[in-house]
Amino acid sequence: MMPLLEIKNLKIEFGRGLDALRAVDGVSLTLEAGETLCVVGESGSGKTVTALSIARLVPSPPARYAGGEILLQGRDVLKMSAAELRGIRGRVVSYVFQEPGASLNPVFRVGHQIKESLQLHRHVTIQADIIDLLRELKQRLGMAIVLITHNLGIVADLADRVAVMYAGQIVETAPARALLKQPLHPYTQALMLSVPGLGARSERLPAIPGSVPQLGAFPSGCRFHPRCARVRPDCSLEVPDLLEVEPGRWVRCPYWGYEPRISGSESEVST
Ligand SMILES: Nc1ncnc2c1ncn2[C@@H]1O[C@H](COP(=O)(O)OP(=O)(O)OP(=O)(O)O)[C@@H](O)[C@H]1O
Ligand SMILES: [Mg+2]
Repeated sequence: MMPLLEIKNLKIEFGRGLDALRAVDGVSLTLEAGETLCVVGESGSGKTVTALSIARLVPSPPARYAGGEILLQGRDVLKMSAAELRGIRGRVVSYVFQEPGASLNPVFRVGHQIKESLQLHRHVTIQADIIDLLRELKQRLGMAIVLITHNLGIVADLADRVAVMYAGQIVETAPARALLKQPLHPYTQALMLSVPGLGARSERLPAIPGSVPQLGAFPSGCRFHPRCARVRPDCSLEVPDLLEVEPGRWVRCPYWGYEPRISGSESEVST
């Protein structure tokens, strides 16, 4: 059966010509009906731009869809007419924003089932309610969910798969359980160390050193290498490929096999 959504090698740029900056750089994702995919990554990694592109809602200009395909039920969203796009927005693809006022334009029609259920649930709507609601809707309607979050606790609760983004690229994608049990990319490991109740065990959570590089100022080679705890001299030379290290598990680091240190303790890693 064809996946509900298949994003292939998507590239989205802001600006024109030599000044164009690539915010989404070769992202590929597959979503089956009934599946929940969580996209995680620090601010500016390209999560929102990727998600909005599914209904071609990243306005162009300033954006340019510079390459790739977004196959929704087999039809390429990037080739749809304005009328076809109107037909999918709010019907086939719906967006729910956690902070409606803060996000882009409120031009999105939320799928009516979701609106209805949110109204039914209106008292204080807390995160746990939303998580329950999404789980129920997914079961009832067989819909798929792409959930963008900074919260790896939500990933543990809801996700079937996880895609970890950094500087416009996916650096790791895996079944949620496997990724939470053993993150393989140094960035995923660092991200998990900074989340209470997951990898991190101490009271003081270590932040990932350094900051996310600005669009247009990505470092050479692996974009994470200046912040990586396990950096090697050749990490600055070439952008690593995504490697399939187990079935369904992809990691953008040639040194993924090295012992991850997610325990947060100082104990020796046996060799
Ligand atoms: N309209 C725009 N013009 C120029 N650059 C943009 C525009 N929208 C987004 N970008 C850039 O694209 C990159 C990805 O942004 P995006 O909003 O997708 O990040 P994000 O992962 O969703 O971050 P956050 O966690 O803060 O929501 C950022 O560098 C951002 O500055
Ligand atoms: Mg965002």
